[in-house]
Amino acid sequence: MEDAKEEIRARLAVEDVVGQYIELKRAGRNFKGHSPWGTDRTPSFMVSPDKGIWHDFSSNKGGDIFTFVMEMEGCTFREALEKLARQAGVELKRYSADDRKQAAHKQRLRECLELATKYFQFCLTKNKSVMQYVFYKRNLNKKTVENFRIGYAPKSGHALVDFLKKRGFTDKEMEDAGLLNRFGGDLFKGRMTVPLMDVSGTVIGFTGRIIEQDDNSPKYLNTPETILYNKGRHIFGLSQAKDAIRRTDYVVVVEGNMDVISSHQAGVCQAVATAGTAMTEMHLKSFARLTKDIRLAYDGDEAGVRAAERAISMASKFGIYLSVIDDYHGCKDADELIQKDAKLWEDAVQNYRPALEWLLEKYVAKYNLKTEKGFQEYATEAKRLIEQIDPADTVLREKYERIVAERLGISLEAFRAKKVAKTEKKRLKKNNVVKNTTVESRVEKNLAALAQSGKVDLGDFEIRKYDEDELSFIFDERYGKWEKADLQREADDLMKKAEVERLDAERKSLEEQIRQAEAAGDDELVEKLMRDLSKKLRQK
Ligand code: UTP
Ligand code: MN
Repeated sequence: MEDAKEEIRARLAVEDVVGQYIELKRAGRNFKGHSPWGTDRTPSFMVSPDKGIWHDFSSNKGGDIFTFVMEMEGCTFREALEKLARQAGVELKRYSADDRKQAAHKQRLRECLELATKYFQFCLTKNKSVMQYVFYKRNLNKKTVENFRIGYAPKSGHALVDFLKKRGFTDKEMEDAGLLNRFGGDLFKGRMTVPLMDVSGTVIGFTGRIIEQDDNSPKYLNTPETILYNKGRHIFGLSQAKDAIRRTDYVVVVEGNMDVISSHQAGVCQAVATAGTAMTEMHLKSFARLTKDIRLAYDGDEAGVRAAERAISMASKFGIYLSVIDDYHGCKDADELIQKDAKLWEDAVQNYRPALEWLLEKYVAKYNLKTEKGFQEYATEAKRLIEQIDPADTVLREKYERIVAERLGISLEAFRAKKVAKTEKKRLKKNNVVKNTTVESRVEKNLAALAQSGKVDLGDFEIRKYDEDELSFIFDERYGKWEKADLQREADDLMKKAEVERLDAERKSLEEQIRQAEAAGDDELVEKLMRDLSKKLRQK
């Protein structure tokens, strides 16, 4: 794979890869552009063709063509590699014979699904009453229908199968693409079809909405899980939404696929949906690659509350700001609200509230605090929820602890001292392991760049290893024209700051360990860690 990576790197110019996403202008030996993440007024995004790397001075991210595509597409390294390999015309040799066969098979399925999409699109244009449904009942316009590639699956029961057979696709291929029912006929019959696409816009399946509701058929029918479509991973609308999400730095998660489509038509192009309200960790990870501002627009019903609860405990792991949009003006979902007045939806999306605050209010409504039972249950639920906040975030914790204590009419101390039952704790602990995410420190990186230049003296201050090319790039850009004395002053200053950052990180990690030891009931360990922590705090 290293070979393939190098080969791709050699064939693709970094400025061309980046240039597909960002407008670049030449600046001496380098290229400059506006940061895709920041709102820089002057271009702060740099590309070095010599070194084959990029660096964004406004967000302090940087890397090579692979990391750039990962960032922009919100995809995994493997996906970026495959995409760039295709562009470079490099065959990924790492594939064993079996893998190659599998890849070829997948490619056939994609072609099969693409053709099915076109066929359904064609069938829509031939059916007046379905056109009526799509354009008048659902109020979709031509642009939306094209953008989401909406179509119609004929009623006959074998129209698609016949069509695909004529085009050379086998039963096995149609079956593996998820297009057949258990009798080998068309799975989608008499339904409005909406393709499910991966992030790059390739069709990987369908959802079909029934047009004339009867009692026997489900309203929606989806492609079953296939080697292309994974329900727990798939995010509907992401290929159409990702640019807007990146540009505005937030995502709106709605419940239904039709809500996504209406939302885009109404100009809120950050909308996506997961299958039902089952948000998984994989979904969250995909979002987190694009933005940390996730706004849930689920109904306020029981399912919506449970979904928000689940998402909260996962979100704390990924440093996500989770909020809730729930002002539907009495409508049942986003689509209905948009039909009433698109402006109301636009406003709703800006009128978001922290998920925790929202949930705590839901609990207040759910339990009758006047009864002792309701009082206890509310206290327990609220405590459980607050325990999900990163313990290092003492400010946020205290904010919510105060809100709940006041609501209960008890002291902050009493609420803090409240213990939640063991079984609950175990569940929380599992959900709440804070991973040591590698937060990129601007201070450390700049310091490393200075150190590598050999123009400053850091004494015995130790620094982490970074990519040498990236460091020399940072040095050239940031410090290239500085006087030696200024460089040393900067280095001294950065060392002080780095010291503070490191102490902070150690403190955070100790606090997390303490919390876990507490949850495990290991008093001795808690004692010891507390002593370590107070030592650390004195060091500051
Ligand atoms: P809803 O019943 O709220 O549907 O289900 P909706 O999105 O408002 O649909 P319209 O507006 O009546 O067309 C929410 C989501 O649950 C899934 C679908 O993804 C749907 O968008 N669902 C619902 C199914 O998968 N199957 C069903 O039979 C019903
Ligand atoms: Mn609806």
